[in-house]
Amino acid sequence: MLRTAKEVQLGNYAPAPFVLTHGHGRRVTDASGREYLDLSGGISVLSVGHSHPRLAAAIGEQAARLMHVSNLFYNDRAIELAEAICARTPFDKVYFCNSGSEANEALLKLARRYHYDRGDRKRVEFVSTHNSFHGRTMGSLSLTGQSKYHKGMAPLLEGVSFVEFNDLAALDVAVSDETAAVIFEPVQAEGGIIPTSPEFIQGARRICDERGALFFLDEIQTGYARTGRFLAQEWFDVVPDACSLAKGIGGGFPLGAIAVTERVAGGLPPGSHASTFGGNPLACAAGLAVLYIIDEENLIENANRLGEYLASRLQQIDERLPSTAGTRGLGLLQGLVLADDVDPAATLGAIFSAGLLLTLAGGNVIRISPSLNVTQDELDEGLAILESTLEHPARST
Ligand SMILES: Cc1ncc(COP(=O)(O)O)c(C=O)c1O
Repeated sequence: MLRTAKEVQLGNYAPAPFVLTHGHGRRVTDASGREYLDLSGGISVLSVGHSHPRLAAAIGEQAARLMHVSNLFYNDRAIELAEAICARTPFDKVYFCNSGSEANEALLKLARRYHYDRGDRKRVEFVSTHNSFHGRTMGSLSLTGQSKYHKGMAPLLEGVSFVEFNDLAALDVAVSDETAAVIFEPVQAEGGIIPTSPEFIQGARRICDERGALFFLDEIQTGYARTGRFLAQEWFDVVPDACSLAKGIGGGFPLGAIAVTERVAGGLPPGSHASTFGGNPLACAAGLAVLYIIDEENLIENANRLGEYLASRLQQIDERLPSTAGTRGLGLLQGLVLADDVDPAATLGAIFSAGLLLTLAGGNVIRISPSLNVTQDELDEGLAILESTLEHPARST
């Protein structure tokens, strides 16, 4: 199977050398029958675990009832999901798409069109942060503040500037009367699990208000209870003009969204933006089932409680082992930084070989972002594997 994969799939990924075929809860099985404990959560996507029976049933029932209608017609599931998201957040309206990159594209277009329609036609620029990750489509890639993702892709979108994350003074200088919007992640996730400071996120809101720019948060990795609040912005008491959502909101079914306040709700008038699959009833039924399970299983509380537990256990590991160099995170989005002399890729390979699935972030950070219904026993089991692997880590040469 691995040979066929290399023959028929594009080489843009470099997956681990096994083929996953089944999953249930936090366990996945490969084609040879080997089982792994999955604390990667599909990179913060599997909010309710692999193949949750209720989610699988909701998708099956909806597939048999109504899978797709074009956006020339309303559908009941999209209305219900938009209503449910608005009820849980400070936002008033929702637009659905299929991925995180697409959600950020929608934010870019909304910002430009909002100012354009108000006659403020020079406001076309964006301020993002160094080390950020906002996606891989040309617009979202242009917002992404890591040059390794830009290699060979120029020219990117014009008018995007970058400031250091958590440097409020730099943001203050960067936002001008040509800035359409400022965007960043409440926790830089792909960049290495780096939380915003309260001063930065609150200051950004204030600066945008003072200068007439819009303020957006990319909650694609942090939203939907991942950090122990429904949205990470709640930790800081900040309401942006809009936020992008994806990853966990479909629990594994492709679904993205932007949620916006009344102020910018008219930002995308009819004809200005669209997505063929966006908001289709099948994806929205999955989104509704995820919300139902989050409530039914008390998963915000679980993410909060076990996020604290995970953070404190990682700190203990970090204090004991010379192969690590710190921990950081928020809720169930935690990172363990590897020491300079440790080889991250080889260490991750050893973790896989020991039966645990995790991912790297920021090159040298082991990311733990399990499903929100992970148990303490599962965390303990995974942390024991992580700790013993890091006792004798692969060294960089
Ligand atoms: C914060 C953030 N924004 C955007 C994206 C892009 O999402 P997608 O891969 O669904 O396009 C990601 C994906 O990792 C992300 O973490």
